[in-house]
Amino acid sequence: MSDDKTEAKPLLDVRDLHVDFHTRDGVVHAVNGVSYDVRAGETLAVLGESGSGKSVTAQAIMGILDMPPGRIPQGEILFQGRDMLKMSKEERRKLRGAKIAMIFQDALSSLNPVLSVGYQLGEMFRVHQGMSRRAAKAKAIELMDRVRIPAAKERVNDYPHQFSGGMRQRIMIAMALALEPELIIADEPTTALDVTVQAQVMELLADLQREFNMGLILITHDLGVVADVADKIAVMYAGRIVETAPVKELYRSPAHPYTRGLLDSIPRLDQKGKELYAIQGLPPNMAHVPAGCAFHPRCPVAKDICTTDLPVLAGAGEERGSACHFWKETING
Ligand SMILES: Nc1ncnc2c1ncn2[C@@H]1O[C@H](COP(=O)(O)OP(=O)(O)OP(=O)(O)O)[C@@H](O)[C@H]1O
Ligand code: SF4
Ligand SMILES: [Mg+2]
Repeated sequence: MSDDKTEAKPLLDVRDLHVDFHTRDGVVHAVNGVSYDVRAGETLAVLGESGSGKSVTAQAIMGILDMPPGRIPQGEILFQGRDMLKMSKEERRKLRGAKIAMIFQDALSSLNPVLSVGYQLGEMFRVHQGMSRRAAKAKAIELMDRVRIPAAKERVNDYPHQFSGGMRQRIMIAMALALEPELIIADEPTTALDVTVQAQVMELLADLQREFNMGLILITHDLGVVADVADKIAVMYAGRIVETAPVKELYRSPAHPYTRGLLDSIPRLDQKGKELYAIQGLPPNMAHVPAGCAFHPRCPVAKDICTTDLPVLAGAGEERGSACHFWKETING
């Protein structure tokens, strides 16, 4: 988390991004006009239930979207001021790993089971920087130390299955950090881990982000894990951002009923024993998104207008936006 970032230009600036999938069911508008930005040293948390478009947005930024069936009919993805959507495949490939790296949820399927972790870490340096095997191995040990893997020197020749889930995720973080990228996108990096390990990995990620002054996009469906590490939050629902705010303000006074529902469903120590709130219903099927506000069938405060008129993301205070016809009532409620 950084304190002084208001002056700097965004490292990444996503503007009005649309992603469609052409499926047998018809066209799915998976991402519908998403805009967000991240500065160096800043952490943006992207939050939302399953299917809301978090990963598809990240894949579009990384340039790893399946096209077809995916298509980007509209939008810009500016990285250091240049639109990556207008770059050649070769230019984008060069950015991946070196400038922008991604950490996925499932370390086991991202690592090669038949190669030692030292070899896989070292590969980053051999392939990208032409380092010798020996030098690359030394770098691999250094990285393993950096992500606090105990006895890195002894464990560098071990295989992925010999590490615990938390340690494997640290190896993935090491892999992402190897070339000292300027932006890391972590897509549910701790979801597969148990709660205490989750907190440790999240803390490590936040420490490294500060140390390297990187931009970090942290994708999660769990509002509980981002409170201490994020600077700002974008909440997604059905392919759109429905609320965006600095993290403290969002926690203090959500301006969208969906965010309020998410906050109310976090277990809290001071309410032990109390039944937890759950947002009723399920996220929409993206091939058949409800008219008006997509959240209306689940919204406890929906009115008639919500079933017909799409609320746009509008200012709800400084650096804040809410896509709700009744954000004023919500923020004060
Ligand atoms: N290759 C694809 N072909 C067709 N539809 C797709 C494809 N990839 C994603 N989608 C659709 O795009 C929508 C957004 O998916 P996305 O993976 O971004 O959700 P998410 O917010 O990351 O959810 P989760 O929390 O489950 O990871 C979903 O409705 C999904 O079914
Ligand atoms: S626009 Fe209406 S349905 Fe949508 S979140 Fe606001 S009150 Fe609820
Ligand atoms: Mg996802």
